[in-house]
Amino acid sequence: MIDAMIEVRGLLVRYGSATALDRVSLTVERGEMVALIGPNGAGKSTLVNALSGIVRPAGGHIVVRGRLGHVPEGRQLFHDLTVDDNLMLGACRSRDRDTSWVYDLLPGLVRTRKQRADSLSGGEQQMVAFGRALMSRPDVLAVDELSLGLAPIVVAALAERLAQLNRERGLAVLLIEQNARLAFDLCSRAYVLEAGRIVTEGPSAHLANSAAVAKAYLGGALDEPA
Ligand SMILES: Nc1ncnc2c1ncn2[C@@H]1O[C@H](COP(=O)(O)OP(=O)(O)O)[C@@H](O)[C@H]1O
Ligand SMILES: [Mg+2]
Repeated sequence: MIDAMIEVRGLLVRYGSATALDRVSLTVERGEMVALIGPNGAGKSTLVNALSGIVRPAGGHIVVRGRLGHVPEGRQLFHDLTVDDNLMLGACRSRDRDTSWVYDLLPGLVRTRKQRADSLSGGEQQMVAFGRALMSRPDVLAVDELSLGLAPIVVAALAERLAQLNRERGLAVLLIEQNARLAFDLCSRAYVLEAGRIVTEGPSAHLANSAAVAKAYLGGALDEPA
């Protein structure tokens, strides 16, 4: 716990009189991939927006050790700028604007570097959003909806890239994902957020075998044994 990259305790966020997060606690350890799943409106984006300082909490504690990279929901690219320029906007300081190592990590983007962001496919745009987050040289990456609106084959490629960054660079990841099966496959632990509260948490394998989680998030009954 002392080594946690992200430590959230008793987080309270309100929008006006509505409570979006109600005493949420969560950790991401060094080198760990952790999933956050839950239905639309549960407060998942609010949580990562609080982590990255976009949303101001009404209570609780947030500790982020090292740099946090944020892949925002819906990617939020500058559509009329090139891929190169979008990447450079992710650099913390101007002297960190070397994009070459990001292209090395995401070679699929090399041939798009001079293209406008809005000329790219959805999967390529998500890759740019990843690359932009990596430009800040993060120690931990929060990915808000990896698979949203993307074809399965594209999602698989992005997921493999993310797993590789974790494996080879020790990048810790907090993954928000609608596809619970994918989230459980990629991440060793998961939290389930419903209506602003963590209702279940534990090892992914354990959650995937819970009847309640399977019913709500895995499309019905547990998998039949092979
Ligand atoms: N800027 C905002 N102002 C007011 N309410 C918001 C705002 N952002 C989100 N909400 C509300 O907070 C709740 C949680 O939203 P969100 O964090 O986006 O959930 P999720 O990412 O899990 O879909 C929802 O009821 C949503 O309508
Ligand atoms: Mg969201």
